[in-house]
Amino acid sequence: MIKTAALDINDDNTNNSSSSNEMVVTPWEVKGKVDYDRLIKEFGTQPLTSQLLKRIETHTDNKLHLQLERKIFFSHRDLDTTLELYEKGTKFVLYTGRGPSGPVHIGHLVPWIFTLHLQQTFKTRLYFQITDDEKYLVNDERDLKETTKWSYENALDLIALGFKPEDTFIIYNTKDIDLLYDITLEVAKRITYSTARSSFGFQDSTNIGWVYWAAIQAAPCFIHKKLTGENVPALIPAAIDQDPYWRVTRDVAQKLGYHKPAQIHCRFLPGLGTGGKMSASMPETSIFTTDQPNDVKKKIWGAYTGGKPTAAEQRKTGANPQICSIYQYYHYIFEEDPTKLKEREHKCTTGEILCGECKKDITEKLNKFLEAHQERREKAKNIIEQYHIKR
Ligand code: TRP
Repeated sequence: MIKTAALDINDDNTNNSSSSNEMVVTPWEVKGKVDYDRLIKEFGTQPLTSQLLKRIETHTDNKLHLQLERKIFFSHRDLDTTLELYEKGTKFVLYTGRGPSGPVHIGHLVPWIFTLHLQQTFKTRLYFQITDDEKYLVNDERDLKETTKWSYENALDLIALGFKPEDTFIIYNTKDIDLLYDITLEVAKRITYSTARSSFGFQDSTNIGWVYWAAIQAAPCFIHKKLTGENVPALIPAAIDQDPYWRVTRDVAQKLGYHKPAQIHCRFLPGLGTGGKMSASMPETSIFTTDQPNDVKKKIWGAYTGGKPTAAEQRKTGANPQICSIYQYYHYIFEEDPTKLKEREHKCTTGEILCGECKKDITEKLNKFLEAHQERREKAKNIIEQYHIKR
């Protein structure tokens, strides 16, 4: 059985209650070997079919974004109906977000990079929710000052990716709750405790802030109408662990006179250890956007690969890129050229290159990327106010 949304007071992979290989995918915890086909079935989402990809292609210069081509985004709800509306002249807005529990790592950037692509292609607004309230509520130890500090730090990373202030609206939950509050009430009134409990796994000991919280994550799906008068659907590019929120939101949307929000779901960039997603609570297995060249080198050097115990054996029998955390970095972001990616895979499986070489190459690529990102991140400090949602 998948634990679809069991509640665990410690978010970020710190639950020891289940054996290490059992798949757990909830908004607060992702661990074990994630079986994405099974998630499509159990969450009741739709796979991104080649037919739908072809349709997307007609809007994107007949070229698919790398993350679609490689099935990093692999599942959706109502993307087809959203495109249909778009083709008939109804736009959509984008909505995604971040729980500021710590520094941003490369895995967090994956869906944001794709969101930027969608924004540029479809020339549409992005609402970005930063949930310092959520991260405070779901962890006994964290205080609100800490999560609010991370809100600021994490927003810099979003801005550094190249989003433009004209059409990017960051919502800082504790600061901007007045803007969301009436919408959260509309939503909360129509979600019963019984639905929330079965969607999120609440227990008697769950604090009541958490029980209301789904209404707060739902609100940005509908905020565009309040701000502009336009009633258009929201499309949410995000990792699939957030899906329980969208299920309850979709159930109430039409009763409130809004479109059901659509989703496009991505996989998790695996951490540098074995299995699960990259996690800020295991710093040695994540590359953070503020890491320095030596940190990167050390972490990459210690990473899990698909290599063999000895070089001689690997030269003879080759290695396994499918289980290699380094190979995933190339696959998810750092090798855009599909021919070169195939080549690397081939050389790996035939023993022509060893893990040291891949590690050295990725360290260089990562450090080059981070140097530029960190520069843009510094500049973001001067313009961050321009992104704050306007009333
Ligand atoms: N709950 C998300 C997290 O913990 C943060 C979030 C809020 C979000 N709204 C969102 C993520 C919309 C994706 C899409 O990270």
